[in-house]
Amino acid sequence: MVKIGIIGVGTVGRSVAAILEANSDIIEARAGKKIVVKLGIVQDLTKDRGVNIPLSDDPYDVINDPEIDIVIELMGGIDGPHMLVKKALANGKAVVTANKALLAYHRYELQELAGDIPFMYEASTAGGIPIIGALRNGLAANHIESIMGIMNGTCNFILTKMIGEGADYKEVLKEAQALGYAESDPTFDVGGFDASHKLLILSSIAYGIDAKPEDILIEGIDNITSTDVEFAKDFEYAIKLLGIAKKVGNGVELRVHPTMIPQNSMIAKVDGVMNAVMVRGDAVGETLYYGAGAGGNATASAVIADIIDIVRGNTNPMLGYKKPLESGLTLLPKEEIHSHYYLRLSVDDKKGVLAEVTNLLSRLDISIEAMMQKPDNDKDECVELLFVTHECQEKSIQEAMSELEKLSVVHGKVGMIRIEQ
Ligand code: HSE
Repeated sequence: MVKIGIIGVGTVGRSVAAILEANSDIIEARAGKKIVVKLGIVQDLTKDRGVNIPLSDDPYDVINDPEIDIVIELMGGIDGPHMLVKKALANGKAVVTANKALLAYHRYELQELAGDIPFMYEASTAGGIPIIGALRNGLAANHIESIMGIMNGTCNFILTKMIGEGADYKEVLKEAQALGYAESDPTFDVGGFDASHKLLILSSIAYGIDAKPEDILIEGIDNITSTDVEFAKDFEYAIKLLGIAKKVGNGVELRVHPTMIPQNSMIAKVDGVMNAVMVRGDAVGETLYYGAGAGGNATASAVIADIIDIVRGNTNPMLGYKKPLESGLTLLPKEEIHSHYYLRLSVDDKKGVLAEVTNLLSRLDISIEAMMQKPDNDKDECVELLFVTHECQEKSIQEAMSELEKLSVVHGKVGMIRIEQ
């Protein structure tokens, strides 16, 4: 028998306890041993958790219990779990966590501390989708060329409704919160931070890149307008918040931002709260993983898979490699990213304006692939100019946006969405 302790018995912790009980036959068959929750830790013991396990409010009752072999960290936050996980490892206990923020900041330190002690985190990225296992094991023979994923269900839910039903951004966000998809502070979702944590975890396994959220390009979905949505539809694009990791020479682009992608690509068809991750390996080619990225049972499914793996004796290194992966591979600076871009600007509707704008773009070496003009419904005597550029550098686009905003004929902020063809 293997005894585990669960620190944090909220939505996911409750599901872990319930599934371990309900599916005990299949779990014991697969693990080879019975798995029993010896103790769950909660902050408030007076609250009914609806679980059939003993509870305490002191995490050290788990961490210091010599009978407990595996610590399941489901607390959330960074500093508290960071300290407790380190203590659990110091006590020789295997650790399973669903905590993406903890890993976004401390995964290399924890890998070092864990050494041969199993440390698993399948539930941290895209909930129930076994994407960590796919990268660590299933695709281990490949150089990973790219990872592109819808890794935040809240954003995908909002964008699906905005595009499919013309729904208002703020209204759909409220709906996502009421349905329990969003983080307690939804700016983590709509600002792209939640997805960035997941992308950083995946890029460590794929490329060994040690970056923090502050090091990479992160943009949220809060600046998308109804004009952008209409343009995307007219030009047969979907708009998705994507986490993208791409190998370019000896560099790796890491970025999270709203992205226009052709409506006929597989990932464009992933709607609602669902997640999907597409991984391209040099040997296998393109692979796609789809499923529920949040929710108690889906996330618990991944947590229990890790527990079973540990009980079976899997001692794979935490990030999946025993020697440096590919020498010389480094994070590309944000300004060196290459993409196609969609630009939206509100300008005076008078002669010479289009020439002024296109001259500026040409001076910055930005070539236009498509262009459209629409009446600006918010401003009289103005029109909205919408451009798609050929591939160019992020640095040029950022400079163009700031130069365009200085022109007296341009009003307000220039909108921009990157395009993946
Ligand atoms: N808030 C996250 C999402 C939950 O919307 O996908 C899982 O990290």
